[in-house]
Amino acid sequence: MSLDELEQLLTDAPERVSGSSSLDDLERLEGDLVGRRSLLSELRRSLGSVDPDQRPVIGARLNVIHQELTSLVASRRSALELAAENALLVDESVDVTLPGARPARGTHHLLTQTMDEVADIFRSLGYQVAVGPEIEIAWYNFDALNTPETHPSRFESDTLYVESFDGEERSGEDELLLRTHTSPMQARHMEQHDPPVYVVVPGRVFRSDTWDATHSPVFHQIEGLAVDEDITISDLKGTLAYFVREFFGADAKTRFIPHFFPFTEPSAEMHVWFRGGWLELLGCGMVDPNVFDAVGYDREQVTGFAFGMGAERLAMVRHGIGDIRHFYENDLRVLDQFR
Ligand code: DAH
Repeated sequence: MSLDELEQLLTDAPERVSGSSSLDDLERLEGDLVGRRSLLSELRRSLGSVDPDQRPVIGARLNVIHQELTSLVASRRSALELAAENALLVDESVDVTLPGARPARGTHHLLTQTMDEVADIFRSLGYQVAVGPEIEIAWYNFDALNTPETHPSRFESDTLYVESFDGEERSGEDELLLRTHTSPMQARHMEQHDPPVYVVVPGRVFRSDTWDATHSPVFHQIEGLAVDEDITISDLKGTLAYFVREFFGADAKTRFIPHFFPFTEPSAEMHVWFRGGWLELLGCGMVDPNVFDAVGYDREQVTGFAFGMGAERLAMVRHGIGDIRHFYENDLRVLDQFR
């Protein structure tokens, strides 16, 4: 163990220090150079046994070496710290000029678009838009609409009844059900508004049907009602023909086929000529005076017409959609075609 050895270590030190590539490396090296078990510390500890003449000279030299090694390590440490800080800045830097990730753009469902479009066409004719409850009482769904207690549509095979939820026993007119059409809003609206009435009612309806290509237990309708003085069947035909031209295009033709509905007399089915064929589109007719009686209108003062159409049916005819289930499966490959 000698001072010569230590001098050699001092000579080699700059290369070793600058070769340390991390703060951890550097700390280990610092231990080797000036730590408690380093050659330097050993020599300092053995100073006592050195010839007293030599002692101050060697002691001073050891101090100088200690200083040099310490400052070598310190300057390497600041260099490594600065590099680490720069690396962090580069790592965490954000390029604000990069284009952002665009969120997918949503759209209304085709059925919503269809009902909105129908409502807009009638709004342009001065009609109001109203909505009604999906859980109805039998009175509005059937009785007020001139549908007798024995009518087959009231059977459980067609209508979904709802259990009473307030503990009250209900029967007959008071029975709760899921509305089977939007027509009950005819009666509700007339009860709340004096004539004249021009209103359309989009909404969800329910039937006890099994699910296939043309049936769904839940579907959508748009009801229409016009009540005023001197409304005639020409107004009905003219209004619906206008609607069809707006919705299907100027070439679309209509025809009316006699039919039966309890709440209109006479009643008809309207067909539309579209893409080379007649397609059934909606039910309509002149409001039966019994309905005016039920809502408190004077049957001698007013006349009116009503109509009801399926939103799914409208969209299927217009877009050539062959299966009603496409509307509810929410497959974006289908829905995306109707943005
Ligand atoms: N409510 C009928 C149905 O669900 C459709 C309908 C027919 C509505 C004639 C009307 C109407 O307002 O006058 O099948």
